Amino acid sequence: MEAQVCCYFISLLVFLLQWVIPGISQVSWTPIYVDGNSQVDLWTQEAKGCRCPFDSSRQDCACCVRDGGCHCGRDSPNRCSQCGLEQHCSNMCNITIDSRNLVARSGKTFGQIKSPSLEGPGFCWYLLQPDTGQRVEIQVYRLVSVGRFNGSSCEGGFLQLVDGAEPRPRPGDSQICGSNERYAPPVVLFADRGSATLLFHIAESTLRSQFLAYFSFTPSSSVQGVGFQARGGRRIEHTECDWLYQDFSCREPGSCVLASPGYPGLYPPNRQCKYLIATSSIHTQVHIIFTALLLPYNHCGTDYIAIYQGSTPSSQLLTTLCANRKTQLQYSGPNLLLEFSSGPPVPPYDYNGFLASLEFVEKSLSTESSNVLPVKTTDPGVMMDGTSAPRHATSKAGCEVLYSGNDTRSGHFNSRSLSWKPSCSMTFLGRPTDIVHVSLFNYMLRAPSCQSVVEIYDGPAEEGVKPSKRICSPLTKHARDPSGRFLEQQTFVSSDNILMLVLRRLGPPTSSTESDTEFLNGAFLFHDEHVDGTLQPDTLCDVDYYGLSSPLEGQISNPGTQHLFWNIEGALRCSQRFIPAANQSVTITVSTLARLSPDPHCHTQCGDGGCHCVANLLPLSQMDHLLLVTDSGQAVSCLCGDFQQQWLPVSLRSWSPLKVVYSVAHYSWNMKGFVFKAAYTFNNDAACGHTTITHPAGEIISKNISSASMTLNYYFHQECIWLLDSKIERQLTVELATHQNRPCTAWNVSVHEYEENRSDGVGQLLHTFCPRDRSKEYSLPWKMNTVLLRLQAMTRTLPQYAIRWNSQIVRANTRVSGPTTSPGHNAGTSTVICAIWTCISIVLQTVVAK
Ligand SMILES: *[C@@H]1O[C@H](CO)[C@@H](O)[C@H](O)[C@H]1NC(C)=O
Ligand SMILES: *[C@@H]1O[C@H](CO)[C@@H](O)[C@H](O)[C@H]1NC(C)=O
Ligand SMILES: *[C@@H]1O[C@H](CO)[C@@H](O)[C@H](O)[C@H]1NC(C)=O
Ligand SMILES: *[C@@H]1O[C@H](CO)[C@@H](O)[C@H](O)[C@H]1NC(C)=O
Ligand SMILES: *[C@@H]1O[C@H](CO)[C@@H](O)[C@H](O)[C@H]1NC(C)=O
Ligand SMILES: *[C@@H]1O[C@H](CO)[C@@H](O)[C@H](O)[C@H]1NC(C)=O
Ligand SMILES: *[C@@H]1O[C@H](CO)[C@@H](O)[C@H](O)[C@H]1NC(C)=O
Repeated sequence: MEAQVCCYFISLLVFLLQWVIPGISQVSWTPIYVDGNSQVDLWTQEAKGCRCPFDSSRQDCACCVRDGGCHCGRDSPNRCSQCGLEQHCSNMCNITIDSRNLVARSGKTFGQIKSPSLEGPGFCWYLLQPDTGQRVEIQVYRLVSVGRFNGSSCEGGFLQLVDGAEPRPRPGDSQICGSNERYAPPVVLFADRGSATLLFHIAESTLRSQFLAYFSFTPSSSVQGVGFQARGGRRIEHTECDWLYQDFSCREPGSCVLASPGYPGLYPPNRQCKYLIATSSIHTQVHIIFTALLLPYNHCGTDYIAIYQGSTPSSQLLTTLCANRKTQLQYSGPNLLLEFSSGPPVPPYDYNGFLASLEFVEKSLSTESSNVLPVKTTDPGVMMDGTSAPRHATSKAGCEVLYSGNDTRSGHFNSRSLSWKPSCSMTFLGRPTDIVHVSLFNYMLRAPSCQSVVEIYDGPAEEGVKPSKRICSPLTKHARDPSGRFLEQQTFVSSDNILMLVLRRLGPPTSSTESDTEFLNGAFLFHDEHVDGTLQPDTLCDVDYYGLSSPLEGQISNPGTQHLFWNIEGALRCSQRFIPAANQSVTITVSTLARLSPDPHCHTQCGDGGCHCVANLLPLSQMDHLLLVTDSGQAVSCLCGDFQQQWLPVSLRSWSPLKVVYSVAHYSWNMKGFVFKAAYTFNNDAACGHTTITHPAGEIISKNISSASMTLNYYFHQECIWLLDSKIERQLTVELATHQNRPCTAWNVSVHEYEENRSDGVGQLLHTFCPRDRSKEYSLPWKMNTVLLRLQAMTRTLPQYAIRWNSQIVRANTRVSGPTTSPGHNAGTSTVICAIWTCISIVLQTVVAK
């Protein structure tokens, strides 16, 4: 026993030395220091020489430290202990230490735990109950026969600090073990969720297992490096150690602080803690300042900090930190993920993770980096007073900005980057065929009862013109909700090429802090309706191209690169619809497809019927894909997953409206979707359409379309309708013929009743002609004056066919048999039909022979 007393006294000295010489290590702990430095142990000044409390006639008892020491009593006359714990002098096992009691009895918030010499197997617990605003701190100095470390975990015994009052070990958390260890610096452990229990577990038979530790109820607010408290962040529920930090909670310097679990103590092993850092403005840069970093050396593969540009570890990796490379970093949002990874414990447990603070910096527009802004932007250097007055002298002095569609097509605006004036205006002036699309990300209007406003004008804000929308104070909008999700966009689209935003504020700002200033920010896009299609109302990115009014050819590409998409997160779907005019077809040729994620759940299969996405396990909407779809919702082609570049180009020529749907399952500004480029042409080929024919007899022969540029994956999509309509009572006969030996799914012609209530007129199906039928003749019921023929095709080979029809008009000499008789069986009429058919058949045979 005496030997040990000497030993822990030495370790006390060692630790004091560590404390007074900062910089030896970054691990910090609460100094535990009581009185003079020549004492026997923490609470015993001298082993002998003082009056015995149990027998006032004796003077040979221990002298206790005056401040907090109490005599152990008759059983241990030469020892003292901390007041409040004297009943545990001889056996410190299974005890509760309550912070308030301890302070009341000894005036101290710290003390010592010295376990009994336990004969293993055995078990002791120490319940530590902090007061509010306190964390439980344990400093372990000495282990004797407390298991051993086998390279990944403790075997045979351990010491562990667990949250809560249950003395139950948690195998996933830090356990400390060793057969004969002196720790200098000590192994420091913190618990931050109220009561915590120190467990001393010996699982094997030992002669004498023992540990020595100090404990402290440390104020969370302590400035000496031991009182860490996360600031500005939000713990994410149902996760072990994940946090969210948003810029608007961190406006003041030092208001956002994060650290590894248990900082500045040992962190738990085998963890992946994710700290999501989210900005709600496109102008904001995230400054991460690592004020402390101490991870085990040579364990960079398991113990590291990784920072990703995005909200998941599958995002682009920006940097990794390990060992003790303290640093400062600056990145742009909208999302950054700081991932702290820990591996197995590494004795002697002399590392403690990291401590960092976050600052969100409004970057000035002139220094914005180009790599985050794929679309060319320019500074609001051009300042104009409204639309007519002469220009202001300098850009810094004014609060009126003009964004010209000539200079920039997409960008962002921020009233904070302008000097303060009661009234600021932002004018977006596009080219003659432009419309202006504006999205408000954040604004703060503080004045009471609508004394500050944001006005949106669809056109110039001239005298007497009313704004199309007024946003009244007091009102604050952030781009995100408190859980970090982006809120729905608030967008405005002009009907012409000019849109104005006016911010009118009450009085000058009362305080100089930026966080109090009323402001407005967002993004804009000039959309050239002539080139980029007609933007559909209430959509972000759905456009229509009309064969009659759009250029006859052009290029399309993936949306999502413009600033307007900055606050989109999750599924992104944009459609570009092509509407050929009568007698027109449209050809869409996909020439580039890049960064299509190789999703194992989706395969593209190209065959004669087009390319199709074959999805397994997940619905198609959860996978990136490019879809070509008809107005009726029929998917005619789809590209996804493992689509190979060498299969490009994929072309589709269609005689009916077609939509190119660009779908990204998990879009974010940092992880934009895949890239595609396609060309479109409207062809005036009159090969297919909706035609009404009143001639009683006639023929339709398929057109031959030049196949000069047709590549492997060139497909035709046809849906041609001929309405054979005649007011005359007749018996109609239709003959179909082809020389193509193709499956019915490639193309076919169906004969339908006419259904006038339907827009396409397609009524009940009467017959289907498949190419393998070669030649077929259908006699339609007597007096069915109107029938509809529909050709459907989706194939690589343009259908070739001949359609002939003939009407047998009732003659006087057949009236006898009357309309009640089925004319097909009437000998008199069939002569006439046959007469006409003979000539048709000759023509048909010539065609088929070709
Ligand atoms: C301490 O308490 C636990 C139960 O909570 C018991 O299993 C153990 O034996 C006790 N230790 C000693 C040394 O009495
Ligand atoms: C160490 O001990 C753990 C738990 O007993 C065991 O799962 C692991 O395999 C051991 N590792 C080695 C290297 O022996
Ligand atoms: C854009 O450029 C054209 C031609 O150079 C010019 O006529 C027009 O005024 C410019 N528009 C703006 C808004 O600067
Ligand atoms: C379509 O083409 C046909 C024949 O080429 C022509 O008779 C018809 O007028 C055209 N229709 C339109 C709407 O241009
Ligand atoms: C269609 O045109 C191509 C070339 O333009 C020609 O080779 C082919 O024979 C033509 N087919 C018919 C049926 O006219
Ligand atoms: C067509 O619509 C009209 C009016 O809506 C209705 O009276 C008629 O029964 C419909 N015809 C058929 C065949 O559904
Ligand atoms: C007719 O052709 C279309 C287009 O290729 C196809 O979708 C449809 O299944 C075919 N109909 C039959 C009965 O095969």
